[in-house]
Amino acid sequence: MIQNLSEVTGFTCLFDDTAHHAIFGSEVRAPMYGVRTAEEMRKVLLDRDADIPAIVYWMMRDLGLKNAPYRKETHDLRFDISYFIPAMFGREYLKTSGHYHPAPPAGGPAYPEVYGVLSGKAIYLLQKVNCIEAAVDEVVVEDCIIVEGNPGDKIIMPPDYGHVTINPLPEPLVMANWVSDRFSSQYGAVEQARGFPYYRIEADAGPRWVNNPRYTKVPVLRTARVKEVPELGLTKDVPLFTAGQEHPELMDWLNNPADYMDAIWSGLEIIGEQQTFELD
Ligand SMILES: [Fe+2]
Repeated sequence: MIQNLSEVTGFTCLFDDTAHHAIFGSEVRAPMYGVRTAEEMRKVLLDRDADIPAIVYWMMRDLGLKNAPYRKETHDLRFDISYFIPAMFGREYLKTSGHYHPAPPAGGPAYPEVYGVLSGKAIYLLQKVNCIEAAVDEVVVEDCIIVEGNPGDKIIMPPDYGHVTINPLPEPLVMANWVSDRFSSQYGAVEQARGFPYYRIEADAGPRWVNNPRYTKVPVLRTARVKEVPELGLTKDVPLFTAGQEHPELMDWLNNPADYMDAIWSGLEIIGEQQTFELD
């Protein structure tokens, strides 16, 4: 079936969710395409030998409009769309491998990011550690947060929090992001740890969070909900692309997070703790 996501995306954008194929309007600059393969994912899975599709998600990077300022060039801001197939990785729900961002050259908090869900549902698992290169038996996990994103939501990945995206539904997840173009993601010791401290799995009793037993000491799993942050250009009714394209000055926090920490954190309201389980 063809899904027309143009209204929520901010430019002409359709997805064929059978062929897993994107169709962009003629006004859209051709993106850089990338894929994540099953083999790249196995190292971070609970069930490493699970039967999983060869390609699990597609990335369309560096999007912009042909006849409008290109924010990658004018403001070092990149707009990407990612498309996740509906699939299970054995007991685990489909997810990304998880990564961190570095700090700007001047130091201070690391670069943040903002995701916008275009279709489907996302669960984001965030974690802060004392050292991203530390081995799993030495690392101190300081905080873990989950937050759910639904179409129209703009979800902030705060500075210094590594993040994993999970597709919890049996339908594709399509999401966009604005992020600084001044860095490359870092993977730290996530592969050695076989993922983040919690796995989202389908158990006999339904979906649940279970501990990754390789981590020795893990904090409680806090739950947050998304809040609009108009001062950072993030409201539910304006497509994420449009917000950054028309008001790139409001996205300065993506390049200079130290000046905006209170506003950044106002986008996540902590609402409780999630029950978690030991692996059977
Ligand atoms: Fe990121």
